[in-house]
Amino acid sequence: MSLTYGKHAPAVVQDVSLTVDAGEKIAIVGESGSGKSTLARALTGILRPSEGAVKVHGRPWETVKRTDAERRSVQMIFQDPYSSLNPTMTPLATVSEAYKVVLGYSREKARKAAKQGLEDVGLTGHVIERLPKGLSGGQLQRVSIARALACEPEVLIADEATASLDVSVQAQIINLIINLVESHQMALVMISHDLHLTRSVADRVVVMRNGTIVEAGPAINIFADPATEYTRELLASASLH
Ligand SMILES: Nc1ncnc2c1ncn2[C@@H]1O[C@H](COP(=O)(O)OP(=O)(O)OP(=O)(O)O)[C@@H](O)[C@H]1O
Ligand SMILES: [Mg+2]
Repeated sequence: MSLTYGKHAPAVVQDVSLTVDAGEKIAIVGESGSGKSTLARALTGILRPSEGAVKVHGRPWETVKRTDAERRSVQMIFQDPYSSLNPTMTPLATVSEAYKVVLGYSREKARKAAKQGLEDVGLTGHVIERLPKGLSGGQLQRVSIARALACEPEVLIADEATASLDVSVQAQIINLIINLVESHQMALVMISHDLHLTRSVADRVVVMRNGTIVEAGPAINIFADPATEYTRELLASASLH
């Protein structure tokens, strides 16, 4: 698959092929501008490939009209939780809305499911009735996670999902994501500059550079014996090789 921004623009991601298996945790790593977020946008269907296709259970998204189930099957958590949430909606309203729109729940059923969903990400009490500007970064990211989970996705994509948070909060949010991914048997595609984190979380690692995948394989192999000089340098910059 290749990806461009604009019709006649050059491809920023070129001839990339990636399969996400059920329940696996994949990390996409690589220097800034290598195309990680662009690839993630294509995986969620926000960006349409200029060449090739994203397939869900073997069905290409571009040629077949997407079913609601396919649309919900891949959900994303963004780097900046504030800008990805509606500033005029409380956590309870945001997550209720997802249950109403995506699962077709009634108002009351959606509210109940949202309260449970927010509790599952550690939010209870008055915070769920506050507007986003009154919440911390960690709390906002918990709301984003609850909203994504309301869609009951098969794949969760986390693009630098903890990068904007205080270091002390990052581990809590990562642990929350891992626990939820495992308990809901979802696959995780994690994009991160934190290679220590990547090593502790990922089953498989995809290394990107200049819009292409330079190597991919089991995390254990990539960290122990990188195949390319680029990956070696990337690991060395994190004092990992
Ligand atoms: N909306 C856009 N319009 C045009 N070009 C873009 C757009 N978003 C990204 N690009 C370009 O596409 C290339 C890949 O960017 P991308 O954001 O995918 O990189 P990244 O690997 O996610 O980087 P980072 O680690 O800094 O987040 C870059 O050259 C970038 O300038
Ligand atoms: Mg990015």
